[in-house]
Order: sequence, then structure tokens, then C-alpha cells
Amino acid sequence: MPANILMIGSGGREHSLAWALARSPGVQAVWVAPGNGGMVGPATEGSAAVAVAPVAADDGAGIIRLCRDKAVTLVVIGPEAPLAAGLADDLRSHGLTVFGPGADGARLEASKTWAKQLMIQAGVPTAPGWLVTSRTEALEVLHRLGRPPVVKADGLAAGKGVTVANTMAEAEAAVDRAFAGAFGRAGERLVLEERLEGPEVSVLALCDGRDLVLLPPAQDHKRIGEGDTGPNTGGMGAYAPVPFLAPQDLEHMRSTVFLPVLAALQERGIDYRGVMYAGMMLTATGPTVIEFNCRFGDPECQCVLPLLEGNLAAVLQACALGQLAEAPTLSTRGSPASACVVAAAEGYPGPVRRGDLITDTGSASSGGMVFYAGVGFTETGQLQTAGGRVLASVGLGDDFDQAFEQAYNRLGQIHYAGKTVRSDIGHQVRRR
Ligand code: AMP
Ligand code: GLY
Repeated sequence: MPANILMIGSGGREHSLAWALARSPGVQAVWVAPGNGGMVGPATEGSAAVAVAPVAADDGAGIIRLCRDKAVTLVVIGPEAPLAAGLADDLRSHGLTVFGPGADGARLEASKTWAKQLMIQAGVPTAPGWLVTSRTEALEVLHRLGRPPVVKADGLAAGKGVTVANTMAEAEAAVDRAFAGAFGRAGERLVLEERLEGPEVSVLALCDGRDLVLLPPAQDHKRIGEGDTGPNTGGMGAYAPVPFLAPQDLEHMRSTVFLPVLAALQERGIDYRGVMYAGMMLTATGPTVIEFNCRFGDPECQCVLPLLEGNLAAVLQACALGQLAEAPTLSTRGSPASACVVAAAEGYPGPVRRGDLITDTGSASSGGMVFYAGVGFTETGQLQTAGGRVLASVGLGDDFDQAFEQAYNRLGQIHYAGKTVRSDIGHQVRRR
């Protein structure tokens, strides 16, 4: 059993993971590096303490020292950047047990061209796409296609590398931006992809290299504006599960998407131990993959984890050891609906103001959960804003109306200047 866990990362996703891991039976302490000021908490009845350590996610040597100092038995890596940079490989080479793929597997997210080729070879339903390495090549594809595609930078671009073009001029501008260096090396190659229509869902699997378990599906809300308008963000809210996906739909995704990709990774000698996140559109011809991520979604994680019952730490450790078959099962809890609403700072997803004081007039009896992301402490120890997405409020209920009511009520108790919230999260599943 993992007694001392180290979480790498500092966002709302990591706060929710630390929260769930601290509640897993047998866990004594959860450390988060570097973490944020909102996630720290003492041990309580039913939960281990959560503490932060000022070690950056790209400081491999510092993380290894921290693991020794704190007798860490399991490391869980949250964000994609350290995974793509090979942190999991580095830690494993020092004998640590790690949940998170190595740099080879993280290419599923870190290279859209690599992932596209792998999907095509594995026969996984994915949007038709063209890989291009120059502006001339890209314009040729555009003109041959005759309709605006989705333009995607190959590499990691902090969620900004994708343009869903409405016109050919927009598509050309996106191509020009990428080849002019807007995304650095991440934009040296592009995928031009057929634009698909249909609701978008996020399905996450916990993998042990050979086998996997699916988590309840979620739906994210990527746009900043009400009615799904305006620029894309990291995600302004989510709900889980997705009522229009039946158990047999998930079974179908398992056999047509997840298992073939895991097998294709194995064929390439890649032992994928971590989250495989498939972003899919439910098109008229069935679920079609538009992207893979190599980590938990944010804010999907914040709304999916509170739905689970069971020992998450034991399951992640079993994945990290390649022994998922021996793990206890995770089940879905009695309150079947989970709602997550993000509060951002003014200006998000553009440049934001920082340093606004955060006050919370709620109490332990308010219900729901608050997971902090872009926050820090003032010199006098008060919580203040320190980033784009500031926090996520999560509510549970017997239905989505109840769950969203709890999430929005709890969010209403938290105050800071410039608080930016979409009031229509979950419009697909709410009746009021
Ligand atoms: P990604 O970074 O790949 O998740 O893309 C960002 C967003 O662009 C997705 O969440 C979708 O809403 C949208 N998108 C990506 N690919 C497609 C596609 N082929 N058709 C329509 N929309 C897409
Ligand atoms: N919420 C989308 C993502 O984590 O990529």
C-alpha cells in the first residue's frame, strides 16, 4: 500500500488528486511539489495530511531528494510538460514507483502527428488528417480540400495550438502564425484535420501497460463565453458522468479506441503506465478521437474523482507496478451526478491580473468541494489570486440540477475582484 505519496503539479487537477489520494485507506501523507497555497490541509478523521514542497516539476534532482527525505512510495505526475520531458523515466531509473507514462508514451499528447499515425495504424476512428511540414505544403492541402479544416500545431502549446477555422482565410492565418513561429518548435509541423460535428466527451482510462480501467466519462466546457462562445480556455467547467453515453457505448470505446492504442504502444515497446485521455466527438458515424492526452483532464479530474468510491491510491499504485488485475475495484458512489464550475481571473484566457485577495464566507457544512488552482499566499498569509483559472467548485447530487446548485452555491461564497464564472455550465444536462 502506498504510504507516502508525492504528487507533481500545482493546479486544480493536482488539488483534487491530492484530496482523493489523502482519503485512500493506508495513505499516511500526501506531498505536492510545487503545489499551491489552497491545497494544504492537516490530517483529519478519514484523510491524511496534504502538504506542499517548494520543488519545481522540472527539477528532477530535487524531486528525487524529496522522495528520499519523505520516504515516498508512489509518485503521481499531474501535468503533461514533465511527462513529455521524461520525468517519469528519470524517477523510474532511480527505483521509484511512478504513475505517469515515460517520454515515449507521452508523445500521444506531445506530438499530434505521432499520435495521428499511431491511431491510423491501430485502426482507431479518428478525424481524417494531413501532416504538413511547410507553409507551401499546408496551403496545397487547404486548396485541395476546399473547405476550412482544423489547424493543429504538432507539439505542446499550452492549449493554444488548435484553431477551428470557420473560413479559408482563418485557416490560412493559423497556418501562417504557426510557420512564423507563434508556437516555437511545437508549430514546425502541423496536422490539418477534417472538422467534425457532434458533442465532445472526455473519457479517461487508468493504464498499467497492458490493461486498463475506464473512469466515468465527462464533458468539458472549453470556451470562455456563455453558450460556448469566445476563445478556447483550459476548461471552464465540466460534469460527469455523461448521461447520453450508455455502458455499452463505453465498452465499445474500450474495444475500438483504448485497447487498440494500448496494444499499438506495446508493439512499439512502450510500457504505458498512467492516464490515457481520449477527447472524442460523438459524430453521426460513431465516437471519433480528436486528441489524446497523457494525463488527467483539468477540470474533468475535479468532477470525476469525487464520483469514485474505493482506494484510488491502491489503483494508481497497481497501474504504476503493472498489476492492475490485483487492484481493488473503483466504483461510482451513491450520488450519481457531479458538477464542476471553474472561477477564473479577469482577462482569462488572456493576460490576467494577479494578487486579488480571496475570501470564503462558507463553512465545512456548506457542502461541495473547492479545489484551488491559480492561488498563492500574501506576506500576511492570506490567499490571493495568482493565475488564470483560480479554483473549481464541485457539487454532488442525485441529479445534475442538485449537483450544479451545490457547486454554484458554494462558488457564491468565495469572493475576489474580477471573479469570472460561466453561469451555464452543464446546460446540456440541467433542467433549471
Ligand atoms: P485539442 O487541443 O486537440 O483538444 O483541440 C481543442 C478543441 O478544438 C477541442 O476541444 C475541440 O473542441 C476542437 N477540435 C479539435 N479537433 C477538432 C475537429 N477535428 N473537429 C472539430 N473540432 C475540433
Ligand atoms: N480539459 C481539457 C484538458 O485537460 O485537456
